[in-house]
Amino acid sequence: MSKIDLSTRDSFGSKFGIIAAAAGSAVGLGNIWKFPYVAGENGGGAFLLIYLFFVLLIGVPVMMSEFAIGRKGQKNAYGSFKVVAPGKKWHLIGFMGVIAAFFILAFYSAVAGWTLEYINQSVMHRFAGQSTEQLENTFGSFIAHPYRPIIWQLIFMLLTAGIVIAGVKKGIEKYTKLLMPMLLLLIIVLCIRSLTLPGGNEGLSFLFKPNFDKVTAKTVLFALGQAFFSLSLGMGALITYSSYFGKKENLAITAVEVSMADTLIAVLAGVVIFPAVFAFGIEPSMGPKLVFITLPKIFQQIPGGDFFGAIFFILLAVAALTSTISLMEVVVAFFSEELKITRKKATFIATLSISLLGVLASMSFGALSGFSILGKNIFDTLDYTASNILLPLGGFFIVIFVGWFASDNLIKNELTNEGTLKSKYFPYFIFIVRFIAPIAILAIFIYSIFVGGLG
Ligand code: TRP
Repeated sequence: MSKIDLSTRDSFGSKFGIIAAAAGSAVGLGNIWKFPYVAGENGGGAFLLIYLFFVLLIGVPVMMSEFAIGRKGQKNAYGSFKVVAPGKKWHLIGFMGVIAAFFILAFYSAVAGWTLEYINQSVMHRFAGQSTEQLENTFGSFIAHPYRPIIWQLIFMLLTAGIVIAGVKKGIEKYTKLLMPMLLLLIIVLCIRSLTLPGGNEGLSFLFKPNFDKVTAKTVLFALGQAFFSLSLGMGALITYSSYFGKKENLAITAVEVSMADTLIAVLAGVVIFPAVFAFGIEPSMGPKLVFITLPKIFQQIPGGDFFGAIFFILLAVAALTSTISLMEVVVAFFSEELKITRKKATFIATLSISLLGVLASMSFGALSGFSILGKNIFDTLDYTASNILLPLGGFFIVIFVGWFASDNLIKNELTNEGTLKSKYFPYFIFIVRFIAPIAILAIFIYSIFVGGLG
């Protein structure tokens, strides 16, 4: 039997590298594309408050749980469970996470590919003079095109693979350390542009003045679902990353920092989008089209629009890339450690197999649009299964494991770095992972299965 030598296992080299990589996983299309439109449809400021509450109350403890499992396990999501719960079936949760990563990356890379097309379109001044209807057609015919979206998607997969194949320190850490500051800079430039548009103040009050009239049970559940997806929780992406953290890393503080960074970017995305939306008298509750149709319409009308349009879609692409890296790493770490193959081979197999499924997901809007499984096309089936079933189920079992089945000492030792850090808040953490988090997650889960999708 070959043993994995821990001293040669790849790891992150710096504290900033850890934050950049983990925040890079969290900050993605979920923040910049999804958060603003979900908030727009659910009362703006009121949604933001409920969302913040869930990030702090549930997101942070679940993230700490994943960090503790991964750093103790020192393996991929599946292998880490085998280490922390030997002889038990908990590794099946890790396996489910690998499948979730596979599914999410397949449909996520399709949308990521669209961002590349839209960078291209902005740079080429293609949006100029198009009416809203024409912009809708442009978008509709692009995603239905027989090969254009697929080519962009494959380019995106290759970009992701090129970074992942280079390893944790020399690939993931190196690039996220570069891309995350760039992302922050881009979003700040766009915030300034948006805030200086005449008539944008209304957009700010929409985002920050809570209007509780629109809050329903659905809003609350949407906020929790969004928090899970946005923080990359529930499927072992953060178990995998934390398996490369150093033993001195303070897991609780890292979880708080990553969650805050993720939330900050979502709020800034709102600050970019809502003032612009209100300045042009557009309804904030446009739904998923907000970014690919409404925004090009807005960019057409502002000075320097093509430039800011290109910046916006570059921002989306960068955000998506640091997330696809984390999704691919889940699969690559699993393949290489469990099948005992090289990272190179593992990346190759992962890229090929996920791309195959991804192409089918892309084709859901074109050649395969007539093909459906239980009334959903392939893209929606992958999204639905991963986001509404596998993630909440994974999150549920992770907190149940940490709250009820893992030995208290194992988790406490990991979170306090073998007792060298204070454990004043540990009882609160345990209370949340035992009772609050599982009940809340179960509520979204049951709701999303029986009442309707969470988007
Ligand atoms: N969090 C990312 C976003 O907001 C997407 C993502 C990356 C993700 N890794 C994940 C979602 C793991 C769930 C699980 O876009």
